[in-house]
Amino acid sequence: MSASPVTALSDRALSDRALSDRALPDRALPDRSAATRAKLHPLLAGRWSPRGFDRDHVLGEDELQTVLEAARWAPSAANSQPWRFLVGRRGDATFATIVELLNPGNVPWAQHASALIVAIADTSQETTAAWAVYDTGQAVAHLSIQAEELGLSVHQMGGFDAAGVSERFGLAPELTPIATVAIGRLDPAADLPEPYRERERAPRERRPVSELVLNGAASARPSLTSVPQAVQKAATT
Ligand SMILES: Cc1cc2nc3c(=O)[nH]c(=O)nc-3n(C[C@H](O)[C@H](O)[C@H](O)COP(=O)(O)O)c2cc1C
Repeated sequence: MSASPVTALSDRALSDRALSDRALPDRALPDRSAATRAKLHPLLAGRWSPRGFDRDHVLGEDELQTVLEAARWAPSAANSQPWRFLVGRRGDATFATIVELLNPGNVPWAQHASALIVAIADTSQETTAAWAVYDTGQAVAHLSIQAEELGLSVHQMGGFDAAGVSERFGLAPELTPIATVAIGRLDPAADLPEPYRERERAPRERRPVSELVLNGAASARPSLTSVPQAVQKAATT
């Protein structure tokens, strides 16, 4: 998808946008870019995880290599680069096998993506194994943003049979499938069945930053009731 210019929105602008979204024709999509309180890069603000993929879109070899290159250059613990990928493009045998291993709720829309990539963490390097999953997620984050830059969209899935992937693709025990990544071109008019159609149009929400920063400034300090004691102590002393 192309990046939206939307960045920081005032309360007024947020409410205007909600009103205009309600007036949309039946098949149109509302603006799903993030209603951010600070100015973000348009690729970050414009990213979201669609289910309506253009079923005729073919992912070019250059595009595939570009998103994998973005993953390749992600940072990692001691430069361990623990991410590995199984790459299927719609129409090939790898893609078909990955579709078979998706949870049923992900199949109706993910089968129309242009590519399905299983992101795998290699935990064989003992000193950095603790960060292998973290690093693999970070590589996928880089891949996702690069995909946005190419006018593509990404939808990650934890809903798949990881043990089945290991078995069907003969993965070594130190290779752990973490997530399946659907890549394709957004089709705003995709004919999605419910409940996917409704989800494609639902408002996107996030916790406020004040809930994320455990030891923030007084104005941003969250309620500490659900915070572990050691952190509460650090935050109040
Ligand atoms: C690790 C991970 C697992 C996910 N699993 C699924 C999934 O199985 N099915 C699905 O429809 N979405 C899945 N999602 C997508 C999230 O639901 C989505 O990213 C989240 O609701 C935020 O929406 P946004 O990406 O549009 O901002 C997953 C995302 C991540 C990062």
